[in-house]
Amino acid sequence: RLLIIDFGSQVTQLIARRLRELNVYCEIHPYQNVTDAFLKDFAPKAVIFSGGPASVIDEGSPRPPESVFDLGVPILGICYGQQVMMHMLGGEVLRGHGTAEFGRAWVTPTEERIDVLNGWFMDGTGREQVWMSHGDHVSKIAPGFKVFGTSPNAPFAITADLERRFYAVQFHPEVHHTPNGKTLYENFVRDAGFKGDWTMDAYRDEAIKKIREQVGDAHVICGLSGGVDSSVTAVLLHEAIGDQLTCVFVDHGLLRLHEAEEVVTMFRDHYNMKLIHADESDLFLGELEGVSDPEEKRKTIGRLFIDVFQKYASEIDDADFLAQGTLYPDVIESVSFSGGPSVTIKSHHNVGGLPEKMGLKLVEPLRELFKDEVRALGHELGLPASFIGRHPFPGPGLAIRCPGEITRDKLDILRKADAVYIDQIRKHGLYDEIWQAFVAILPVRTVGVMGDGRTYDYACALRAVTSVDGMTADYYPFSHDFLGETATRIINEVQGINRVTYDITSKPPGTIEWE
Ligand code: XMP
Repeated sequence: RLLIIDFGSQVTQLIARRLRELNVYCEIHPYQNVTDAFLKDFAPKAVIFSGGPASVIDEGSPRPPESVFDLGVPILGICYGQQVMMHMLGGEVLRGHGTAEFGRAWVTPTEERIDVLNGWFMDGTGREQVWMSHGDHVSKIAPGFKVFGTSPNAPFAITADLERRFYAVQFHPEVHHTPNGKTLYENFVRDAGFKGDWTMDAYRDEAIKKIREQVGDAHVICGLSGGVDSSVTAVLLHEAIGDQLTCVFVDHGLLRLHEAEEVVTMFRDHYNMKLIHADESDLFLGELEGVSDPEEKRKTIGRLFIDVFQKYASEIDDADFLAQGTLYPDVIESVSFSGGPSVTIKSHHNVGGLPEKMGLKLVEPLRELFKDEVRALGHELGLPASFIGRHPFPGPGLAIRCPGEITRDKLDILRKADAVYIDQIRKHGLYDEIWQAFVAILPVRTVGVMGDGRTYDYACALRAVTSVDGMTADYYPFSHDFLGETATRIINEVQGINRVTYDITSKPPGTIEWE
């Protein structure tokens, strides 16, 4: 397996993604956890140093342990990772002062081509588009290194010590804006001897085995939301331990139209699982009354969720484990909670609200997977395609699609509008092209005219984005006809809304959800 040492870049996860696409198993660990002992135990076949926001020039800035250079395995340093490698191996790094580079840049080859980059510079123009994002830059490379590519503001854009198999680049090969970045990773993992044989089929068998080992004869409670993640978790567990599993479906009153009935029918009747339908909407909506701060909403919901679980767990004899559909991106995002290097953008529902002491041990069989890998696993497990293909739905549900205070009234309106919108998308055959679509009800009312009367109702915003992994997203380019038709339907069919807008913000700078 491959080790990615995280120095806090916002795009570290994308490195893992690129490697998974190459069927290489890798894990991201924050630099604080990577000690000499850790390295020995992990025994990586290759190591990648991520980027990060720090400056190697600063006292106490993040470092990998020196021993990483003695492992005898290939190392790839990216951005901050390059700088830290140069700094530790005897090179020199200087502060920006007019040489900072953010965004698109072109790298041209210097010296001879380097094995790890073979396939690059193939477009005939002799240059390669890359994505840069750095303030500091390497001013002198370490002994043993040579320069293989240069950009106007990064004279050492691509460097390598071919003998020791240390590679270091100033740009970010993991982002889409470095179109041939995958080639670099491909060559790097091949150089490290990976065969690219990590598949979903193997993952499924391995996961079932691991669950059985971890759980033994104990009873597991699984939080089932009806979303893809928790559904796959439940079916996987059901396959692994059968009746030792009880699913608890917490209805927090923040679900979409008819969602609760659909989930209960599918898992209780179709799959024959033990399923408790916990209707706790009064509790959640009561506690959320008057709360309008997004983080407070998330934390409140996360906390109540755990409370409710504990309550139901305590009623089930010898329940020792709680299963959660935590995904890899959740794990990484949550690193910042334990003092990890990256900045918290939003507290994540699954991990963020989890108290230290909850009396139940955790089973998280999807912890290592990205969303599309979960879908592939769901497919392996025989879940219906319509279910696997569902758009993601966040744990805090409609709460984060209702900016400002949440009321039952607003939620009802939101549910109806959302149902019309999704119906429109399905009717026009656009559902599968879109990563996620939903309505957000805005905390403003506006004046309108219907028939001969004045209306004073809520405005709503339609959101639809395309994305590969939820990390970045583009708004979906609906036709004006579609938008117009949908607005008319919503206003006609949903009492309480008299104005419809379309959100055309991409991520970044926006996020997909409104809160
Ligand atoms: P943002 O809004 O951060 O969302 O761009 C990225 C993706 O994550 C989903 N999301 C969540 N999923 N619990 C979840 O299970 C959460 O707390 C949560 N917050 C956001 C969001 O719907 C989108 O797909």
